[in-house]
Amino acid sequence: MKKFIEKYSSWGLITGASSGIGKQFAISLAARGLNIVLVARSKEKMLLIGKELVDKYDVAIKVIVADLASEVGIDTLISETNDLEIGLLVNNVGREDSDHFLKISTKEHVQTIVLNIQVPLLLTHHFGAKMVERKKGGIINMSSIVAFQGVPYVANYAGTKAYNLIFSEGIAAEFEKHNIDVLAVTPGFTKTNLAQTYNLSGTPFKPLTPYFVAQKAVKDLGKKRLSIPGAINAFLYWNGKFLFSRKMNTRSFGMVFKKALRNSL
Ligand SMILES: NC(=O)c1ccc[n+]([C@@H]2O[C@H](COP(=O)([O-])OP(=O)(O)OC[C@H]3O[C@@H](n4cnc5c(N)ncnc54)[C@H](OP(=O)(O)O)[C@@H]3O)[C@@H](O)[C@H]2O)c1
Repeated sequence: MKKFIEKYSSWGLITGASSGIGKQFAISLAARGLNIVLVARSKEKMLLIGKELVDKYDVAIKVIVADLASEVGIDTLISETNDLEIGLLVNNVGREDSDHFLKISTKEHVQTIVLNIQVPLLLTHHFGAKMVERKKGGIINMSSIVAFQGVPYVANYAGTKAYNLIFSEGIAAEFEKHNIDVLAVTPGFTKTNLAQTYNLSGTPFKPLTPYFVAQKAVKDLGKKRLSIPGAINAFLYWNGKFLFSRKMNTRSFGMVFKKALRNSL
């Protein structure tokens, strides 16, 4: 605990912190004694989470209301954190559209690229530079189990998550000498708003809880560069890597997604 605070203090910043996995990251990091910056669009939800964290863990909280898909949102986040020492950045914000590729508008596809790729890139550049100066810090990047192969019905989303993974691996190697830990997290289906269109009955998946995903990632930070929560996801990862061809992985993931999306495709 003392080591954790020494390395990542004094503030943890979580994007997409008003619900789901981001909210659980806020709880996990506050429980380890970090002050927390919550960033998302829903002010009321974040104020409630903030109050809970202050009451329970006696940490300082800053709520930043920002649409991170906009330039103004990124500028707001950067200017409002200028006087804070952000020791741990959690690039959690993300969006997903699941449908036949052509049924999703190009506007929505581009929005996904901005939020899932451009935002973590900009924030890693900004806060990473400050961590390098201080010679300590940590960065957690939310990827997904879909990052390891192409996946029909979430083709663009899976592409952005592959970026998160590959980007994270490269930065981890570059930042290691600056005493900065970088971790990519690759959950499968997790019970959050983002995954609510999926019906998993009849598939081998049981949704993870956001609590489990965040807890495991925080435990893995500094020890690994890849955090794969859940036994079935670890099984899929190792099978995909050593037993099946990429084409076969894509086909099996496609079958699972088709089944899970049977009510909406
Ligand atoms: N759930 C899964 O099955 C699953 C699996 C693998 C990976 N992931 C990844 O986990 C991460 C978190 O997702 P989640 O499942 O926890 O989803 P979620 O519950 O829908 O949370 C998404 C968060 O992002 C915020 N957000 C969305 N658009 C935003 C914007 N334009 N500007 C600022 N904040 C925005 C949302 O808050 P506001 O609406 O208040 O802005 C919310 O706090 C994502 O990167 C996702 O790709 C999820």
